[in-house]
Amino acid sequence: MKTITIVGAGYVGLVTGACLADLGNYVTCLDIDEQKIAGLQRGVVPIFEPGLGELIGRGADTGRLRFTADYADAIAKAEMIFIAVNTPATGDWSADMQYVRAAAEQIAKNIDHDVIIVNKSTMPVGSGDVVSEIIKANLKNPDIHFEIVANPEFLAQGTAVHDFQLPDRIVLGSYSPEAAQRVADLYLPLRAPIMITDLYTAEMIKYASNAFLATKISFINEIARICDRLGADVKEVAVGMGYDQRIGKRHLAAGVGFGGSCFSKDVMALAHMAAGAGLHPQLLNAVLDINYDQRNEIVDKAAVLLGSLRGAVIGILGLSFKPNTDDMRDAPSIDIIRSLLAQGADVRACDPAAKEKARAAIQDDRVIYCEDAYETAQGCDALILVTHWNEFRSLQPETLKSVMRQPILIDGRNI
Ligand code: UDX
Ligand code: UDX
Repeated sequence: MKTITIVGAGYVGLVTGACLADLGNYVTCLDIDEQKIAGLQRGVVPIFEPGLGELIGRGADTGRLRFTADYADAIAKAEMIFIAVNTPATGDWSADMQYVRAAAEQIAKNIDHDVIIVNKSTMPVGSGDVVSEIIKANLKNPDIHFEIVANPEFLAQGTAVHDFQLPDRIVLGSYSPEAAQRVADLYLPLRAPIMITDLYTAEMIKYASNAFLATKISFINEIARICDRLGADVKEVAVGMGYDQRIGKRHLAAGVGFGGSCFSKDVMALAHMAAGAGLHPQLLNAVLDINYDQRNEIVDKAAVLLGSLRGAVIGILGLSFKPNTDDMRDAPSIDIIRSLLAQGADVRACDPAAKEKARAAIQDDRVIYCEDAYETAQGCDALILVTHWNEFRSLQPETLKSVMRQPILIDGRNI
């Protein structure tokens, strides 16, 4: 049982904090967003993530999970401080480290005892050193001893609680194997393989993993285009490939491509690191090119089927970047809707969880948001399924057809 502070109560920080509290630790989640913290203190969970609300409730009931916006309060007793703030992409593709820097500075200014700093956010290779330098430069007492441990997250949204509790592996990297082992001890109850390595290698494992998963998706999307032309069924091709254990079944679903806060950002950051090291990351660039082309391709498909998009009414089924989340970051629906509107179409849309976040992300009054697929379909010339929420798996084609102007459904996720 350890006393832990998590800095950043977002998708990763909240899940990590709630799960560590559930394993018996005393966890304080800190966020600079006071409104978010006030809500969490009242039991309001700010994101849609299956199982998270229950864990947060249990943490509050047992007194093992609490929330604050005050650094001094948050870290007064912390043996370990996890940094889980966001590291979004910047215009030049590098990861934006400003929030990590701010967190490291505040930790240093408020800490008065020895501590282990755990880098949970995805940070470029070498960031452990950056955090270390910032802390050293801002410590009020230079005698305080600290160690940095990189411990990347592998939590997919929608299954993040499950991914935490049943991980494929735990990766830790540090100049201090003892510090890494102390963090590893937190995860022992999960009985997962634990790999302790050096700092840079742990940081790289995260980027290489996400880049590989993104590559699998762009690969199958390229195969899908070839299948379309040659008359093969990409869904069965993926199944046939997936039986080969060297390939594996997962992350081979062709469709409108990947979105979300991680894959693009991490592939870009890795490409940026490679370019910075004098390399030309051709494969990584192609992964991104193929991915963003998929979004245009589905709009082109609609244009070809309808002759023209001008004056057409198009219904979008699913807005979040994947099912079981309300997250709209880099959601394919955003580009698809903008492109439809730019080509003169009227757009109707629905999503079981992301409607409000979509409205804020798309920021266009021309989009009409509906309650469900049937309301969306009313008067449509075509429907485009963008996010494969379960409720879209059992749609009644006859009912849809009866309310549509033309009975066209383009399945962007091959469901
Ligand atoms: C995470 C990781 O940290 C990122 O590196 C990874 O690649 C993807 O997942 P995520 O949890 O999705 O990011 O970010 P977000 O949901 O935006 O949460 C970050 C939180 O940190 C926000 O609540 C924000 O208010 C908070 N924050 C940000 C701070 O508390 N302090 C800061 O200085 C900046
Ligand atoms: C990803 C990683 O999976 C996770 O390990 C990491 O820590 C964070 O980034 P996430 O982005 O939440 O997680 O979801 P993921 O399930 O990997 O899907 C990402 C995107 O790829 C989604 O838009 C999804 O629809 C798309 N995708 C996924 C496909 O297009 N095809 C697939 O076969 C799988």
